[in-house]
Amino acid sequence: MEKTSEAFFQDKIDREIRIEPKDWMPEKYRQTLIRQISQHAHSEIIGMLPEGNWITRAPSLRRKAILLAKVQDEAGHGLYLYSAAETLGISRDEMYEQLHSGRAKYSSIFNYPTLSWADIGVIGWLVDGAAIMNQVPLCRSSFGPYARAMVRVCKEESFHQRQGFEILLTLSRGTEAQRSMAQDAINRWWWPSIMMFGPKDDESPNSVQSMKWKIKRFSNDELRQKFIDVTAEQVKVLGFTLPDPNLKWNKARGHYDYGAINWDEFWQVIQGNGPCNKERLEARKKAWEEGEWVRAAASAYTTKKNKRNTTVAA
Ligand code: 3HC
Repeated sequence: MEKTSEAFFQDKIDREIRIEPKDWMPEKYRQTLIRQISQHAHSEIIGMLPEGNWITRAPSLRRKAILLAKVQDEAGHGLYLYSAAETLGISRDEMYEQLHSGRAKYSSIFNYPTLSWADIGVIGWLVDGAAIMNQVPLCRSSFGPYARAMVRVCKEESFHQRQGFEILLTLSRGTEAQRSMAQDAINRWWWPSIMMFGPKDDESPNSVQSMKWKIKRFSNDELRQKFIDVTAEQVKVLGFTLPDPNLKWNKARGHYDYGAINWDEFWQVIQGNGPCNKERLEARKKAWEEGEWVRAAASAYTTKKNKRNTTVAA
């Protein structure tokens, strides 16, 4: 019997041959990638907001320069990812429209407020740490443009993670007030960070197919467990604790056991009811509206340039 296009496609995936934008692909594969890559891009862009909040208040010029560079990196990540999604036939304007109208999701984590300087350390250590755990396998994702974009993203994320850890290490050697500010930030960000990996496997509708297509290489729970295992050791170096009384090494499993995650909170946040959802979307919409004149000027310039080139060529 002749192989169908779908069977050829799956065979390529199974043989680890990358799928490129002009290759044939099932419509559902294309849609799944558009969904995941555009949500990822939106997360990078929205993720600039909680940190941007601290640029003017960073405690020294060195810290300001580092934070500024990190926030600029996130903008760059968003741009590579929007470009990767555009190769699948969606325009950037459509993706922005989906975000601004509330139809597209972005990571739950960015709907929490940054209340103290220590939050910037914790975002680097936990949030970027969780992002790396999830994104390193995406460098082997089956779709070429996504996988290639992730290589640079992951290198930069690893710098972000280290700068966060270094902020916390400095606070851990500081005054009692600084230590308690850091512990408070860890307490607030721990649970939302482990929710970043998504719902548990038996409640994740997309995982099975995405893993078959090798868009995802590990399940949500597998990555969450890996992250908990490394973080439970790192926190000892800092001399702080994670706010989970049930966090305990399980020798038989070779992993840390952990307490119950508040999934109700997770679903509330991704449905738009988190502490900062409204504020985050408002900020993005405002930036879009206020940037209208820049888009108009850029397109007027392009029209003028094209016209000049046509006249010269004639
Ligand atoms: N926040 C918001 N929505 C989430 C979520 C989260 N933490 N976790 C899952 N969801 C959504 C999914 O998007 C999906 O919604 P949809 O079907 O309506 O689009 C639904 O919940 C069910 O979840 P699934 O597990 O079935 O979905 P996926 O298979 O897509 O897995 C994922 C979710 C693991 C987040 C996966 O999409 C992924 O790996 N994405 C790429 C990485 C990414 O987007 N990271 C976001 C953080 S980026 C970042 O942190 C920036 C850095 O600079 C800090």
